[in-house]
Amino acid sequence: MSKRYTLTAALPYTNGPIHIGHLAGVYVPADIYARYLRLRGKEVLFICGSDEHGVAISMKAKKEGITPKEVIDTYHHLIKDSFDAFGISFDYYGRTSSDIHRETAQSFFKKLHDTDCFETQTTNQLYDAKEDQFLADRYVVGTCPKCNYDEAYGDQCEACGSSLNATDLIEPKSALSGETPSMKETTHWYLPLNRYETFLRTWILEGHKDDWKTNVLGQVKSWLDDGLKPRAVTRDLSWGIPVPVPGGENKVLYVWFDAPIGYISATKEWATKTGNDWKPYWQDTDTELVHFIGKDNIVFHCIIFPAILKAMGDYIMPKNVPANEFLNLEGQKLSTSKNWAVWLHEYLEEFPNKQDVLRYVLTANAPETKDNDFTWADFQTRNNSELVAIFGNFVNRVMVLMYKYYDSVVPEPNSYTKADKDALQALSESPTRIADLLEEYKFRAASQEMMQLARIGNKYLADEEPWKLIKTNPERVATIMYTAIQLVAGLAIVSEPFLPHTAEKLQSMLKLNPNTGWEDVNKVSLIPTNHNLGEASLLFEKIEDGIIEIQQAKLMP
Ligand code: 2FM
Ligand code: ZN
Repeated sequence: MSKRYTLTAALPYTNGPIHIGHLAGVYVPADIYARYLRLRGKEVLFICGSDEHGVAISMKAKKEGITPKEVIDTYHHLIKDSFDAFGISFDYYGRTSSDIHRETAQSFFKKLHDTDCFETQTTNQLYDAKEDQFLADRYVVGTCPKCNYDEAYGDQCEACGSSLNATDLIEPKSALSGETPSMKETTHWYLPLNRYETFLRTWILEGHKDDWKTNVLGQVKSWLDDGLKPRAVTRDLSWGIPVPVPGGENKVLYVWFDAPIGYISATKEWATKTGNDWKPYWQDTDTELVHFIGKDNIVFHCIIFPAILKAMGDYIMPKNVPANEFLNLEGQKLSTSKNWAVWLHEYLEEFPNKQDVLRYVLTANAPETKDNDFTWADFQTRNNSELVAIFGNFVNRVMVLMYKYYDSVVPEPNSYTKADKDALQALSESPTRIADLLEEYKFRAASQEMMQLARIGNKYLADEEPWKLIKTNPERVATIMYTAIQLVAGLAIVSEPFLPHTAEKLQSMLKLNPNTGWEDVNKVSLIPTNHNLGEASLLFEKIEDGIIEIQQAKLMP
């Protein structure tokens, strides 16, 4: 394992709140990984922040009759607070409107400009004469040349995921005035991606053919096979970071040029605040850099940003980019504009103290290898039949019996039967099984392996039936209960990355030694004889049909 880890989670645009698609695709898996590595005693820096430039923000401001600054301030705080309340354990949450970010992004641009890493091109671009505005990115809507979707944006088609240039669109229309655009000449700086083709092919398609996800390799291969072309890194817009070189007046950096640099500027801000050096996190080859993103961000994190870092020199490349597919909601594509979503801030209000339920459902059904569907019925089933009936039930039965038989003082075991040994064996194997899956970014399977330990505990108790033996064979019951409490303690550790709030509650119920770590689960007995347990309380509660029906009704058009 590496010396240190820099983990980044895609910087969300501050033009709307966070929904379950963002959580399932990016933030929950990233948080599981960060928590897991910290539990293993690794040095981890988990970075995120607000992506506050780009047309998405100016469009929102225009639509609402407010300034872009008002838009970003509102959503920055809403998003940051909801991540906090949900328990996403970022070490630093930055903003791309910060001074350090502007300086950092401009210094990248200037260095690449001064070292001839850019080309300039003068071309005809779509222009809205009525609004006096060049129509880049989301300012233009039209038909996707790849899949014929008729609401594709000038930078990307959300239906097929293709990355586009505004002039690629068939029958383009201005998103500002609805008019058919005219053409107007303008000059921009371009990053000649074609210069990096060989590097990218060798580094990714050869170097990572066995450890990167097939969806990521597939997209990279198709980009490279199509032939990379120079890509504009400036725009004729007013909202953004000013272009810091002569001729850059009235132009700003392309949002996808500055946004990923946001990971680095956020690291600098974190380093200043904590008295650390930011450089090792981005420049030391002993650092493992991992970008957590959704599939629509693959090209930016696997081609464009690496090309920028390579051109800068001195920077490490990501070790992996475990991009996820998309999550749908009740069979339909999630959509911010169509309000077809489960919003995080609303969930937190409507389901207080149920952060872990949503985390678990989104992980157990994560869109890791294909698009997946979130349904409220599945949410209810996973809660009632897994978290309540398996995990919660096992823990509760052990805690209640411990109190009833031993006044919550752990008894001394005597001779172990095969059933006891099998249960303890499963416990000792569990952390390695889970770790192996997490290290391959298989969060879904890892969460099921964690639940399997609870299932084993539940079955063990049901098979051994201590309640039937307590009168006739108290010695045997002591061994059963000692074994069962070890399984509960193991769960309190291995569940932490997946169910952090539950794990914390469970650890305090058990009065578990706070130094107990992941490695201890397969080495020593986690809770000794004569240890005093704390008071039990329920970890999960059943969710009734009425609650689910309210949520389903909320989605009705
Ligand atoms: O797709 C998005 O929501 C972008 N705001 C992600 C940016 S990731 C990074 F590079 F900043
Ligand atoms: Zn398309």
